[in-house]
Amino acid sequence: MMTAIRTFASSISTNNRRFIYLIFAGAFGSFMIFIISSLTSSSAWVILPLQINYRQRPECTCLRSELPLLSSPLTSKQNDSQAFLCSEYATQRGPHQRIIAISLFGPKENRIFQFNRSINFLHALIQDLNIRYSDGFILRIHHDNTINTADIICPIECKHPNVDFCNMTHKLYIPPKIWRFIPAGDPLVDVISFTTLNKG
Ligand SMILES: *[C@@H]1O[C@H](CO)[C@@H](O)[C@H](O)[C@H]1NC(C)=O
Ligand SMILES: *[C@@H]1O[C@H](CO)[C@@H](O)[C@H](O)[C@H]1NC(C)=O
Ligand SMILES: *[C@@H]1O[C@H](CO)[C@@H](O)[C@H](O)[C@H]1NC(C)=O
Repeated sequence: MMTAIRTFASSISTNNRRFIYLIFAGAFGSFMIFIISSLTSSSAWVILPLQINYRQRPECTCLRSELPLLSSPLTSKQNDSQAFLCSEYATQRGPHQRIIAISLFGPKENRIFQFNRSINFLHALIQDLNIRYSDGFILRIHHDNTINTADIICPIECKHPNVDFCNMTHKLYIPPKIWRFIPAGDPLVDVISFTTLNKG
């Protein structure tokens, strides 16, 4: 009788131990699944915007063409200081850029600014660029906030992979006529050529 009870008790405790072990293993398993899934989802959160955001301005519905991934760790090292000089997309182009730079600014800085005329001239310049400088030159347009992103920047940037708009609105302490010389201070730029759009 005693033996039977003892066997019964020990079988219960073995069962209990197995049960507790199962619960523990299950909890550990779900914990690992939770950790792994939160890691992958958080890395998806981190990586996706990095890969796509540079191709699309928040105001644009179109994506710009993909750029080759930078092999050098340029983008991690040079953060805002480079985006400062033009745009995120321009930074993503990496080093050795050959630039043609212009300034495009509105009535506040230039009374004889005629918006349509300047925009038409800009389109002509881009056509000209595509014919004369088809060998990898990039046109940087340094502009103020008279240039509307959705109406002007998005269609031009998405159509022409070799044109970058650089917003100078928060750098108005630099005279607009000087803007086009700014790429000369960009360590990513090798060759630079200046041209004028606004007269005067
Ligand atoms: C990157 O940004 C941080 C903080 O904004 C700054 O401390 C650091 O010097 C920057 N690095 C470079 C290479 O500009
Ligand atoms: C400028 O162009 C827009 C659209 O192309 C047109 O609606 C507007 O009348 C033009 N303005 C002038 C002053 O030519
Ligand atoms: C340029 O930057 C200013 C502020 O830095 C912002 O208000 C404006 O919307 C920007 N313009 C464009 C065309 O991105």
